[in-house]
This record gives sequence, C-alpha cells and structure tokens, in this order.
Amino acid sequence: MLNSDPNIADEEVLETTLRPQRFSEYVGQEKIKQHLDIFIQAAKKRSESTDHVLLYGPAGLGKTTLAHIIAKEMGVNIKVTSGPAIERVGDLGSILTNLDDGDVLFIDEIHRLNKMIEEVLYPAMEDYKLDIIIGKGPAARTIQLDLPRFTLIGATTRLGSLSNPLRNRFGSTHRLEFYTPEEIERIVKRSSDILGIGLDEQGARAIASSSRQTPRVANRILKRVRDYAQIKNIPTITGDIALEALHLYDIDRLGLEPTDRHILDVLIRKFKGGPAGIQALAAVTGEEMQTIEDVYEPYLIQLGFLARTPRGRVVTPEGYRHLSIKLPEDQQDKLL
Ligand SMILES: Nc1ncnc2c1ncn2[C@@H]1O[C@H](COP(=O)(O)OP(=O)(O)OP(=O)(O)O)[C@@H](O)[C@H]1O
Ligand SMILES: [Mg+2]
Repeated sequence: MLNSDPNIADEEVLETTLRPQRFSEYVGQEKIKQHLDIFIQAAKKRSESTDHVLLYGPAGLGKTTLAHIIAKEMGVNIKVTSGPAIERVGDLGSILTNLDDGDVLFIDEIHRLNKMIEEVLYPAMEDYKLDIIIGKGPAARTIQLDLPRFTLIGATTRLGSLSNPLRNRFGSTHRLEFYTPEEIERIVKRSSDILGIGLDEQGARAIASSSRQTPRVANRILKRVRDYAQIKNIPTITGDIALEALHLYDIDRLGLEPTDRHILDVLIRKFKGGPAGIQALAAVTGEEMQTIEDVYEPYLIQLGFLARTPRGRVVTPEGYRHLSIKLPEDQQDKLL
C-alpha cells in the first residue's frame, strides 16, 4: 500500500518540500482556516497566547501542516514532540520549562500520552504551572514552577481515545474533513509546480480521483506517476498516462488499493458481510488493528462501503456492488 512506502526518508523529504507554510497556500478546510484566523488575529491584538487547539481527523489530511502554519501565522516558535516520545514526567517537565513565552508546543498523537503525564499537563494547560516532586518517600516535597504562556496544539487520528479531562482543556477543537476532488486537483497542481513535473488538466483529475481525498496520498501518487512517465520518456503527465500508471500500481478509480479490497473481501467471504470486530478483522487480513482503523477504514466509511455498527464492521450494499459480489438478502438489516 502506498501508505507504507518503505522509502521513509524520501517520503519525509517530499512531505517537507511540499508542506504549505501559510494559510494562503493551505488548500481547503475553509471553515477551520477561518476560525483559526480569527482566533489568531484576536490573540495578537490582545498580545496573549491563544487557547489550546486540538486537531483531529484521519491520517494525511494536514494536521501537522496546520500546526506549523498556526505557529507561523502567530509569529512564534514551534516545538514538536509526540505522545509516545514523552515517556516520563521529567521529559514533559523539561520540554515545558524550555519553552519561551508565546511558543507553540505541538504534541502529535496526543492520545498516546500516558495517564501520569496527562495529569502533569492539566495544570500546565490551565494555569501555566508545573508541579514537580523532589525526593522520595516521606522526605518528598512538591514544588511549583511557573511556566511560560504557551499554546498547546494537539493532533490525533482518534478523538475517542482521548480522555475527557484532556479533551475539555482545549479551547478549540477542529475536525479535518476529507478534501473535494477539486481541492485535491489544486494540491497536485501546486505540488507538480514545486517539483517541476509536467501535468495537464486530465492528468491532475485522474490523480485526484484516485487519491482517497487525502493530500498525502495525492502527493505520493503524483510522484509514482511521475516515475512511470519518466521511464516512458514522457515529459507531461496526461490523463492516459496517469490511468496507465494507476492501473499498474493496482489503484482503482476510487483510490482503493489491494488491501482495501482485501478487507472488504474478507468481511464478505469470511464474515458473511459482517458484523466483525476489528480484532478478528485484523487477524484474518494480517493487517495491524491500528492501521486498519487509521488508514483503511476511514476512507472506506467515507465512500460508504463500510459501516461501523455497535456489533462491528459491516459491508454496505455499495461495498458489495463495488466488488461486483451479489448482495445477500439480509445484508441491509445488519446495518440497522
Ligand atoms: N490543505 C493542504 N494543502 C496542501 N497540501 C496539504 C494540505 N494538507 C496536507 N497537505 C500535504 O499533505 C502532506 C501530509 O499532511 P500532514 O503531514 O499535515 O498530515 P497529518 O494530518 O499530520 O497526517 P498524520 O495523521 O499521518 O500525522 C503534507 O506534507 C502536505 O504536503
Ligand atoms: Mg501528522
């Protein structure tokens, strides 16, 4: 799958080169941009740090990018860390005490912070105070440090895994949406300009329609199609060339890849269309639970091919149709 490209270093270079730096370059998510813009302007006027911001939504929609843009538009520095990287309370303490007034602290995968660290984070977010315990046993005492006024930006693919007290401490919470085909077209055109890739209108459209409505995937596909065109000595990516390349890479016109089809196929053939629990589905498909939940499932749900019910995942009639498999009579009832 394109989402697990082995060439990670190459990937990262691509992501940083193509990452928009300002709201004006950030395509789509208009409502979020508007809200954040007002929010930032207001804070600037009052010369205060802004409220903490929580960004959530499926992988590759632009959360990390947005966090960097917010810092840039505020004119402050950003320090970047992630939930799993903060292992001990001391790690968080040293990050917080090293911030400057007004800085943005970006915590990616914030749902993976452990409980103990969350508890230290609460007073830091609310009152800009850090409680630290010095010593052990009966001689232990707590001292409180004043922290700079920072803005925390948290990002997560799973809002549901965040504890309520943590979620409630964010002043504004934004859900990133999948992009429209037109927005993705604009993104691939912008990327092709930056990378010096020839791309015509139909080429952009073909790539956009197979990009899972996701900028990261669009940029990856653009690069793969460029490779294909280069080997064929074709200077400009046209619609035909893009479709040929997509076919070769086994990506269908909706952007589904073999793994997506495999997940649907397993659900249909091994679980009679569902409902199936995520664990069982992971075991039978050989994919990791987290990858299914974060990468494959959101888009299958977005397409309306898969539904989450209280009893598990169910393939919808549209999902059956896409795989050209006959719909069992009772399938509709399972969705209720
Ligand atoms: N609105 C946008 N306009 C243009 N390009 C974008 C936009 N959003 C994302 N991108 C591109 O997609 C890439 C992936 O975005 P980003 O890393 O911000 O996603 P993410 O939501 O943080 O993903 P993850 O959940 O996997 O961390 C960026 O490098 C950027 O080039
Ligand atoms: Mg990210």
